[in-house]
Amino acid sequence: MAKKLLLKKERKVQVKNREIVLSKFEKHLVDENKDFSTSYGKITKKDLKKTTFKVGKEEFFVMKPFFIDSYKQLKRLAQIITLKDISAIIANTGINNKSKVLESGVGSGAFICFTATIAKKVIGYEINKKHLEVAKENLKKLSLKNVELKKADFYDTNKIKEKDVDVVLLDLPETWKAIKTTEKVLKTGGFVVSYNPNISQAQKFVNSLSEKFLYEKTVEIIEREWTVKETVLRPKTKDFGHTAFLSFARKIKI
Ligand SMILES: C[S@@+](CC[C@H](N)C(=O)[O-])C[C@H]1O[C@@H](n2cnc3c(N)ncnc32)[C@H](O)[C@@H]1O
Repeated sequence: MAKKLLLKKERKVQVKNREIVLSKFEKHLVDENKDFSTSYGKITKKDLKKTTFKVGKEEFFVMKPFFIDSYKQLKRLAQIITLKDISAIIANTGINNKSKVLESGVGSGAFICFTATIAKKVIGYEINKKHLEVAKENLKKLSLKNVELKKADFYDTNKIKEKDVDVVLLDLPETWKAIKTTEKVLKTGGFVVSYNPNISQAQKFVNSLSEKFLYEKTVEIIEREWTVKETVLRPKTKDFGHTAFLSFARKIKI
């Protein structure tokens, strides 16, 4: 089903030195073969063939969606790794088009889908059949073919057969239980990243690292969005929206 990205311009007026927003910026990913209803009126499939058009006073722009537009529409299960954390993992481990990356657990495949656009190959281990199905559906929607998903308990070292992996991401309830398996699959110099919502979990992971790993650091990525308008400059949210701690270590040869 071919999609179009539909953007609506914000409409505002100046009243006595004050800016009043009459309608907000909007973004929709729509089926190009169907009419689309908005609170301003109907947008027809004929409108979606144009690059710009108006519905009443509202101005719309139509374009081909980018990867990130489709990515943001993926089906989500409970908790996914956010873009701010994905970017830190990719940047700190240097994932590139030669990398073999492994993640466990897969969940809805948010990290895997993003990383598959950069890495040579991505392997995912997941224990829950339902989660695997959602991840497969998401990969199909994005036409990603360099991913292999497997059903297994990643804590069970004997069941995992991979070798020579460059980066292992652990997004599991007890990441320290996956250290032995990680040791087996990583190549020398390869990275392990442990994704832990609580600092006590990060501590347990770091303290459990064997002598086969060199611990690098634990970080929390803080992203604060700001409202930037002609007369208003302030952070959008009061707190920082904590997601997780990222602990990085590298495998060494001993
Ligand atoms: C928070 S989710 C992962 C989300 C994922 N990183 C994403 O970006 O969408 C954690 C996943 O780990 C899976 N899991 C839990 N224990 C596991 C185990 N021992 N082996 C493999 N997967 C496991 C769960 O079923 C769940 O899907």
